[in-house]
Amino acid sequence: MLILGIETSCDETAASVVVGPDFVRAATSKEKVTVLSNVVSSQIEIHKKYGGVVPEVAAREHVLNILPVINEALAKAGIDKEDAPKKIDAIAVTSGPGLVTSLIVGIETAKTLAFAWKVPLISVNHIEGHIYANFIRDTKGEVKFPAVVMTVSGGHNMLLSMTAHGKIKMIGETLDDAAGEAFDKAAQMLGIGYPGGPAIESFASQWNNQVTNSNFQIYSKSKVTNAKIDLPRPMINSKDFKFSFSGLKTAFLYKLKKDAGWKKRIPEYAAEFQQAVVDVLVSKTIKAAEKYKAKTVMLSGGVSANKELRLQLERAVREKLVKTEFVMPDLKYTTDNAAMVAAAGYFKARAKKFTQWQKIKVDANLEL
Ligand code: KG4
Ligand code: ZN
Repeated sequence: MLILGIETSCDETAASVVVGPDFVRAATSKEKVTVLSNVVSSQIEIHKKYGGVVPEVAAREHVLNILPVINEALAKAGIDKEDAPKKIDAIAVTSGPGLVTSLIVGIETAKTLAFAWKVPLISVNHIEGHIYANFIRDTKGEVKFPAVVMTVSGGHNMLLSMTAHGKIKMIGETLDDAAGEAFDKAAQMLGIGYPGGPAIESFASQWNNQVTNSNFQIYSKSKVTNAKIDLPRPMINSKDFKFSFSGLKTAFLYKLKKDAGWKKRIPEYAAEFQQAVVDVLVSKTIKAAEKYKAKTVMLSGGVSANKELRLQLERAVREKLVKTEFVMPDLKYTTDNAAMVAAAGYFKARAKKFTQWQKIKVDANLEL
C-alpha cells in the first residue's frame, strides 16, 4: 500500500511516499512503514532575517514549491508521474494545526490530486503526524501499547496517552509557550540565530564538552551543565502534567540583564537554558509513564531533535522504568516532514478513516 504524504503547516514544504504492509490482518503496534522518498524544502533561510516565520511569505513559498516537491517525491520513489494515479493508494495531508494560509496550499493540492487521480484522501493532524514518525522503519525500538508520548515542537508541547492506533488522549499541555518556542526566544535574546533550538544546542554542547573535558566538576542544582547560572524548572513539581515555559524565558532575560559580561558566557547560558527545559520534559514524562503504566515512552516533535533531550530521556526511562521501552524517531523525521504525515495516513487508511475531498477543511487549531 503506497501513501503520498503532503505537509505545509508551517515553513516546510514537504512530500513523501511511504509503503506499508498490505492489509491482511488488523494493524498491530509492531508494524512500521518504509519511506521510499522524503523531500523537504525548507524556508529557514528566507525567514531567518525576520527572526521567525512570516505567514504570508511562507504561503507564497509553498505555492511555488508544492508541485516540484511532490514531483520529486514521486520520482525518488520510482513512480512515473503518469503512473501515480494507478500506484498511489491514498493521499494524506496535514489539515491542522498550523498557519491557515500555509495549510491551505497543502490541502488544495491534495484535494485536486485526489479528485484528478481518483484516490482517497486522508486528513492528518500535524501532531499525530509527529507521533507517527515513531512508526517509520528507521525508528529504533518498537512501540507497545499503552504508550505515553512526549510531543514537543515550536507550536505544541503535550503529554499524550496512546492506547492503540488512532486512540490518542491528551494528558497535559503547556499553559503558554511550547519548549521549541522558548528555545527560539532564548536564542533570539542571545543573538545566536534562528531556529533557536539547534543554535542553543550547539552552544550548549561547547559548554558541556569543555566542562567534561576538564576535571573541574561543580555539581550544581542542574546535574549536568555545571553552569553557575540558576534558572527555574517551571512546574517540575506540580502534581499535574501541565507545562509553562514563558516564566523560564523571562527569568532568562533577567539573568542576561543583570550580567554585563553575558556575551562572553553564551555557551554556559545556552547549556543551563537547555538543561532547564530538558529537566522539566524528562521529569514529567517519567511521572506520566508511571501513572499510565506505559509499556513504551515515545518522544516526538521538532524539539526531539535535541541530543541532550534524546539522551537524558532515554537514560531516565532505562533507569527509572525498567520494563518500559523507549522509542524516538530517527533525526531526519523529528522536525517537520511529510513521511510522518504519510505514516499516520497509512494507519488511518487501515482504519478506513478517509475524508471526502469535498469535505476536508483547514483547521488552524485542530485538536487531536
Ligand atoms: O516540529 P517542528 O519542525 O515545527 C513545529 O511543528 O513547530 O519544530 C520546530 C521547533 C523549533 O522551535 C525549533 O527551535 C525546535 O523545534 N528544534 C529544536 C531542535 N531542532 C529543532 N529544539 C531543540 N533542539 C534542537 N536540536
Ligand atoms: Zn511540527
